[in-house]
Amino acid sequence: MLSRSFILKTAGLKPVEKLVKKSFLFRPLVKRFIAGDTVEEAMEAAQPLLDRGFKISLDYLGENTKTEAEAMQAKSTYIQMLDRIGPQELDNGIETCNISIKLTQCGLDQGTEFAERNFRDVLSAAEPYKNFVRVDMESTEYTQRTMDTVVRALKDGLNTGTVLQSYLLRTDEDVQTIIDLKARVRLVKGAYLELAAVALQDKVAVDAAYVRQAKRLLIDGHYPALATHDEKIVNALNAYVAEQTIDRVGFEYQMLYGIRRDLQDRLLREGYNVRIYIPFGDSWYPYFTRRLAERPANAFFIMRSLFKG
Ligand code: FDA
Repeated sequence: MLSRSFILKTAGLKPVEKLVKKSFLFRPLVKRFIAGDTVEEAMEAAQPLLDRGFKISLDYLGENTKTEAEAMQAKSTYIQMLDRIGPQELDNGIETCNISIKLTQCGLDQGTEFAERNFRDVLSAAEPYKNFVRVDMESTEYTQRTMDTVVRALKDGLNTGTVLQSYLLRTDEDVQTIIDLKARVRLVKGAYLELAAVALQDKVAVDAAYVRQAKRLLIDGHYPALATHDEKIVNALNAYVAEQTIDRVGFEYQMLYGIRRDLQDRLLREGYNVRIYIPFGDSWYPYFTRRLAERPANAFFIMRSLFKG
């Protein structure tokens, strides 16, 4: 069976990227994970989910801008998304429809201060709408700078939060930092290819870290978001919530658009808050390959098609 690291490495090769992007064979798979090219298309995909009671987070695909101009363009798209979503009527203090952004799309490779200024412009645009902006967590090259930038914003009282990845060896400490700041965090397993010096390599160990950190956040965190499609983990956490009599309004589950819709529906029916992360935009390739790496069966389909020509 293809391993996660093999898929991520192969997908990173330029000829493979070119082939996958060019071929119409993969369009149905791409469409399953990505809501469209524009904010309007993303909102069209979001509306039926909102009507059924899901919360959503919009994600404008793209990372690692190469110029300041590209970062400014991404910032203006983030602001357009906030304008399109509009004012939020808070439900138990929580917005129904927020956005997730990436600091490398705000220009982190062009400079930390430059990216921070852009990030804060996005937060200013969100403020009149009472909206929340979540900063996704990227590869370890950016972890410390992302934490520092978000922590500075939180200390200034801005309505933001970030993501922590259970596979990183540092995450127990970061969970404590976030708890101390009474900040909102999304807990994920982690999607990038990382070395053993900084990240757990074994799935069983990552799952155990995830459960440990999720339980900690459920007890001491501030409206944590538990982002996973792992039904075994979800069931274990639901049992923990019942056992500890934790109020379901105090946290949310999050899942990606198009993945485990059955589990999304089940949790909503059972009365949990469920937020769907909806990616859109034409820079879909890196996001798409991370999704393939999580589901080797999908990648196997692609490899077979490539070799068949
Ligand atoms: P795991 O990968 O163990 O999968 C459990 C089960 O879920 C699988 O057996 C399968 O049934 C199903 N499944 C998972 N992925 C699938 C796929 N692609 N296709 C079909 N079925 C699939 N990561 C990161 O590093 N930084 C970030 O900011 C974010 N943000 C983020 C937001 C949200 C809302 C989610 C849900 C996830 C992220 N992630 C992320 C991704 C995360 O780190 C992780 O890679 C994926 O969620 C997959 O891990 P699971 O917890 O789902 O478990």
